[in-house]
Amino acid sequence: MDSTAQEMKKNELVQAQAHVFNNICGFFSSMSLKCAVELGIPDIIHNHGKPMPLSDLVEALSLPPSKTENVYRLMRLLVHSGLFAKQKIDENQDEEGYLLTTSSNFLLHNTEFSLADFVINLVNPALVKPGHILSDWFRTGESTAFEAVHGVPFWRHLMQNPEYEKGFSNIMAANSKLVMSDIVNSCKSVFENLRSVVDVGGGTGTSARVIVEAFPHLKCLVLDLPNLVANLPGNSNLEFIGGDMFESIPRADAIILKHVLHNWGDDESLKILKSCREAIPSKKEGGKVIVIEIVVEEDSKLENDQLTKTQLYFDMLMMTTFNGKERSEKQWEKLFLEAGFSDYKITTLSGFSSLIEVFP
Ligand SMILES: C[S@@+](CC[C@H](N)C(=O)[O-])C[C@H]1O[C@@H](n2cnc3c(N)ncnc32)[C@H](O)[C@@H]1O
Repeated sequence: MDSTAQEMKKNELVQAQAHVFNNICGFFSSMSLKCAVELGIPDIIHNHGKPMPLSDLVEALSLPPSKTENVYRLMRLLVHSGLFAKQKIDENQDEEGYLLTTSSNFLLHNTEFSLADFVINLVNPALVKPGHILSDWFRTGESTAFEAVHGVPFWRHLMQNPEYEKGFSNIMAANSKLVMSDIVNSCKSVFENLRSVVDVGGGTGTSARVIVEAFPHLKCLVLDLPNLVANLPGNSNLEFIGGDMFESIPRADAIILKHVLHNWGDDESLKILKSCREAIPSKKEGGKVIVIEIVVEEDSKLENDQLTKTQLYFDMLMMTTFNGKERSEKQWEKLFLEAGFSDYKITTLSGFSSLIEVFP
């Protein structure tokens, strides 16, 4: 091997070693992000209105000056990850200040599409702990790693922890705002000929509200667990019903299943889809199920593609928490056909989910 080849090989090995170390220490990405959101750093930088020097940031955080270097190190990692940026405070000075990037704009509280609650509720010991016992779970018969750690399934755990349940509802609502506003703007025809829909597992009704606002001719019923929908206010177009989707699903022109089936394995998903099929009219009469879920792009070798990584991370979250899964088109098709549907149409949305119209 000549010296250039040797140098290249050495470089490749150094890069490979760094790659492994970065995966070992990757949890610091989540933890430093959580720390920044909990401290309120994105909001403080946003409110500053111009590049914010480190000293001002430490002061605004009300932290002891002895923590200045630690804040600098936290911010250095977050700037390196592209979550914040640095810029000269003014042309004539060398001092730099911190700015938000497009990504950290999503970390502001009280904005329409905020992901701040996602950070707090997903980077949460309840969801992280099962990750520590995954290898044991692979070897044993426990239904989910979550249950092995907490002793109860996820939905029961939420019922037992009302604060966490509230946080979890908030993040589902935030996601619904983001996804549904895209759907009602770019997929209008999906709802146009419908008179009634049931949003099964529709949470606290965020999606339903976006739908009835955009399509006031529609009557929308939200079915979710009784403890979640008790006392939620409806209106003339929107109603809540507490129940169990495995027991019965009310009849309507269309059933919406948004981020519900990915919480369940194939057997339970088949059960839900079969009941949905019984609850809607024929295809000729306009009946359909509207599934809003990830369609995993398995064949794309897109290691650097942010959306693919998001899909794969969510799949792991479904596996450890619910024994559910994010499905590829092939897996979706198999499920729909087995549940007795004849056809389906996938529309890719602007985020990492797709809208799938499933016809009887
Ligand atoms: C991942 S959340 C999705 C919520 C909502 N569709 C959305 O996208 O924001 C799944 C929902 O299914 C509900 N759920 C779980 N088991 C259920 C059951 N047996 N019957 C009805 N709803 C259920 C949960 O309470 C939760 O609101």
